[in-house]
Amino acid sequence: MVPQMMEANPAEMFAGKMMDMLNGAALAMMTSIGHRTGLFDTMSMMHPATSVEIAETAGLNERYVREWLGAMTTGGIVMYDPEVRTYMLPPEHAAFLTRAAAPNNIAASSQFVSVLGAVEDGIVDCFHKGGGLPYEAYTRFHAVMADESAQSVGCKLFDFILPLAPDVMQKLETGARAADFGCGMGRSLRKMAGAYLMSDFVGFDISKEVINTAQREANMEGLMNLRFQQRDVAAMEMDEELDVAFAFDSIHDQAHPDRMLTNIYRALKPGGVFLIQEIQGHTHVHDNLEHPMAPFVYTVSCMHCMSVSLSQGGMGLGAAWGEELAESMLLAAGFKDITKHRAEGDLMSTFFVARKPK
Ligand SMILES: C[S@@+](CC[C@H](N)C(=O)[O-])C[C@H]1O[C@@H](n2cnc3c(N)ncnc32)[C@H](O)[C@@H]1O
Repeated sequence: MVPQMMEANPAEMFAGKMMDMLNGAALAMMTSIGHRTGLFDTMSMMHPATSVEIAETAGLNERYVREWLGAMTTGGIVMYDPEVRTYMLPPEHAAFLTRAAAPNNIAASSQFVSVLGAVEDGIVDCFHKGGGLPYEAYTRFHAVMADESAQSVGCKLFDFILPLAPDVMQKLETGARAADFGCGMGRSLRKMAGAYLMSDFVGFDISKEVINTAQREANMEGLMNLRFQQRDVAAMEMDEELDVAFAFDSIHDQAHPDRMLTNIYRALKPGGVFLIQEIQGHTHVHDNLEHPMAPFVYTVSCMHCMSVSLSQGGMGLGAAWGEELAESMLLAAGFKDITKHRAEGDLMSTFFVARKPK
């Protein structure tokens, strides 16, 4: 008799998927804590060690560290030797969890799960009443965004993003005027200002808090060619002043992204270049089925990007607005010669180069 293959039970398979989801969500929060407390960084430098040794080295409370290690061990992130009661972070795992691992530090991105969990009540209200939550509702948003941006933009600025437009590098070397629209903490601008001393850089953001922090950090570095201004990029009236414009992850969560793009187009001199980093994905949901990070993108979008835009009576494009809509909005604003790029191994970002005709 030929043995029959056991048919997988779809209901059981789905229940398993849901349990994986619960465990994954819990581990994402613990991973965020591991990043913020420096536990991953500490463990990556240690030989197998007890919870007491790990807590002491990290300067943390042992009881909390031991419970965290319980989650990490049962979640398959940390290895445990019951004979000697030691824990170890394998180097292959540290390669995705430590600050030294940037741009591959998934622990930094996991902070978004906790930031979003804290606003669930407000988002549930929005499901009933519409509207959205303002930026101020999100504790630590700008700090977490700066962490994320250091990976998605900062780490590839000089070897991938700027070389997408070789004429931009040339302009910056010889002396150009450049602006970053929706700059947040402006850490990429700081890197560029430090590297291209002949050029002038300005960062615009609507948040006073973030502009103050960005300016303070730039002052501490003594960067004389960089300033930050609190401005609404949808209501700016710059006329042919800039050689280069940047927008890193900042178009889709605008209240009025169409006005922002028109204003950037007007602010550029003829022949000016616009360099953009946006979230990778397509405009239609069925085209995102193979996107390995699509549920994460739609979740961040629903609980933050779309919501902050709707809170201002905006378009609410959301993070999953997609490359097709991005291109059509750039064209509608007047940009030409738009090219689209993805960096190898980067599942989250798409980069565009768009030009104002000479
Ligand atoms: C997703 S964050 C990106 C920040 C930064 N570019 C980065 O990559 O870290 C979007 C930024 O756009 C800013 N923003 C939103 N609406 C704006 C507006 N109307 N004018 C200027 N900045 C705005 C927010 O304050 C926030 O700092």
